[in-house]
Amino acid sequence: MSDSANKMWSGRFNEPVSELVKRFTASVNFDKRMAEVDIEGSLAHAAMLNKVGVLSAADLAAIQQGMSEILADIRAGQFEWSLDLEDVHMNIERRLTEKIGDAGKRLHTGRSRNDQVATDIRLYLRGAIDILVALTHELQKSLLDLADQHAATVMPGFTHLQVAQPVTFGHHMLAYVEMLGRDADRFLDARARVNQLPLGAAALAGTTYPIDRLYTAELLGFDGVCQNSLDAVSDRDFAIEFTAAAALTMTHLSRLSEELVLWMSPRYGFIDIADRFCTGSSIMPQKKNPDVPELVRGKTGRVNGHLVGLLTLMKAQPLAYNKDNQEDKEPLFDTVDTLGDTLRIYADMMRGVTVKPEAMERAVKQGFATATDLADYLVKKGLPFRDAHEAVALAVRYAEEKRRDLSELQLVELKSFSPLIEADVVGVLTLEGSLAARDHVGGTAPNQVRAQIARWREVLAA
Ligand code: ARG
Repeated sequence: MSDSANKMWSGRFNEPVSELVKRFTASVNFDKRMAEVDIEGSLAHAAMLNKVGVLSAADLAAIQQGMSEILADIRAGQFEWSLDLEDVHMNIERRLTEKIGDAGKRLHTGRSRNDQVATDIRLYLRGAIDILVALTHELQKSLLDLADQHAATVMPGFTHLQVAQPVTFGHHMLAYVEMLGRDADRFLDARARVNQLPLGAAALAGTTYPIDRLYTAELLGFDGVCQNSLDAVSDRDFAIEFTAAAALTMTHLSRLSEELVLWMSPRYGFIDIADRFCTGSSIMPQKKNPDVPELVRGKTGRVNGHLVGLLTLMKAQPLAYNKDNQEDKEPLFDTVDTLGDTLRIYADMMRGVTVKPEAMERAVKQGFATATDLADYLVKKGLPFRDAHEAVALAVRYAEEKRRDLSELQLVELKSFSPLIEADVVGVLTLEGSLAARDHVGGTAPNQVRAQIARWREVLAA
């Protein structure tokens, strides 16, 4: 029992936990991921204790020396993690004491693992958010490059998955740039609430030492300190909020994934995805499957599940800290990993998308996509919109029977649906005319698409 966790609270206990309970309660296998931030937090805590006269300069120096050796061991993969020591915090503290003796035992003065772990998660998450925001911006840039190549490439815009009106492929990509922009903003919003220091709350009520929490916060780059000790050690709303933002980002990428899968199907044939993102079938030699988008769609379920998991973890916990909270880490870490990988792979994959403009044009021509343009044309000539709608509906039915597009009807044929239709209708019924007419902020006209691309490039360069 000499190096087990029981030693840390030994006097109180007269039998060790069983192997199963030890495995059940231990978190070191996953929380060791927080080792570096745990050390960072400990060093700041020790420096603060020294500043307020609770820890001697010699003890602080010993702690700093010991921790730098431990950090080097961890980075080199040479640190021996022990399940007996339960979690990352006790593993590191024990190793420190082995190295430097009593100074190591003084580190935990005025601190509890409850405020320690809350601090670690926040430091970890702050770093993760910064990486995820940068990755989100990279994906936006990749989408902008694709949009730029296709600012004027016409494709069918869909509602109800039925051909609705012509849009440009660039405009369609920009819709996702907008979604991802809000996603990145949500991460940054959450970051402000993540970046508050819990340390000093100790177990739950604060501590009797003359601590200087603002100093610790400053050393660790926190914007402020949690203002209530019970809240500081117990709530994980910041992790839930982050996971909600991640679930939304995944949900956006799942929508794009669904579109890529559809578009790559021969039924659409709108795009091709580079081979390095696809796999074949072990039985059907002709197959090329869009595995990456399919998996992103699938992994969205898992991240959405983590959100529900964390909400459920929290919902019945009385104040303050409960061991339930140890269960926050795996969903949180998996969310960070899954989203990070998804964003990385997506930025690369969108650069490997080949667009097939002929197939898109063929599809848009099959759907009477300029019918609204014809109705608008009649309205501009004085017809009330509802009457125009009806006249065009009849024209569409006629064209459908003749198996021709509206643009392929003769002027005399068109005139039979409304005498207001004249020779100038030609420009209205072409795809180019339809696109160019939607020339306002947020519209699909190619010059508007180019303006949005320029705007986003500036935003992302800032
Ligand atoms: N491993 C624990 C966690 O992740 C650390 C805090 C433990 N505190 C306690 N009082 N048992 O939450």
